[in-house]
Amino acid sequence: MRVIVAKDYKEMCSLAADEVEAVVRAEPECTLGLATGSSPVGMYQELSRRCREEGLDFSRIHSVNLDEYVGLAPTHDQSYRYFMNDNLFDHINIDKANTYVAKGIGDVEENLREFNAVLDKTDIAIQVLGVGPDGHLGFNEPGDTLYDGAHREVLDESTIDANARFFASRDDVPRYALTMGMGNILRARKLLLLISGSKREAASRLLLSDRIDPRCPVTFLRLHRDAVVFLEEKLADEIGYRA
Ligand code: GLP
Repeated sequence: MRVIVAKDYKEMCSLAADEVEAVVRAEPECTLGLATGSSPVGMYQELSRRCREEGLDFSRIHSVNLDEYVGLAPTHDQSYRYFMNDNLFDHINIDKANTYVAKGIGDVEENLREFNAVLDKTDIAIQVLGVGPDGHLGFNEPGDTLYDGAHREVLDESTIDANARFFASRDDVPRYALTMGMGNILRARKLLLLISGSKREAASRLLLSDRIDPRCPVTFLRLHRDAVVFLEEKLADEIGYRA
């Protein structure tokens, strides 16, 4: 695991964009694994700028997203399909037909079958990740066991609390989501984790201990051969992490 302490959020996003850019330039037809949440927003803005101003070309790139809320239509402004269009796809020259976000409405079992079928034939060149305050990745919530493939997850109360800020009220936060499993994530050739926000507990468990713990799914990143973890200096200082 390579850990990079950036001086602030802006620098973190720029350095993380460098990692994605390197993959896109080396493999212009690859599949990017993408994430939602506030952590990668600045990196998506930087990639959009590089596409607009520096000719970074996404025209043959494919993508697949980590997760989607159950019950939200793609047109709902808190759905992850809407988020991806709004924060990235509408600002780069990607063909939206080549982007995949699991379906949030309709038959859950059918949507899961489709999600797993897409993942089974996809070789993810780089998977972007954020982390939940409880250490969840995508929507893989802490538990005694974790899942290999895409599945439906019941969101933890703490995840509902953390994500309530995006909804009119806590009651509007969906209770279920479809998410890639830990196996899908760990099979990506490269992982790029951006730790931003109040993530002291998750960051400490990942960076200050060598325990792999299903009760803190982000710790599984330690098993990956090519994982890059970004965090801001402020958080590194708070948890006492020294490179
Ligand atoms: C959600 C998403 C995760 C994301 C997490 C952290 O729960 N499903 O993929 O990593 O939020 O979000 P943020 O980056 O806003 O802290």
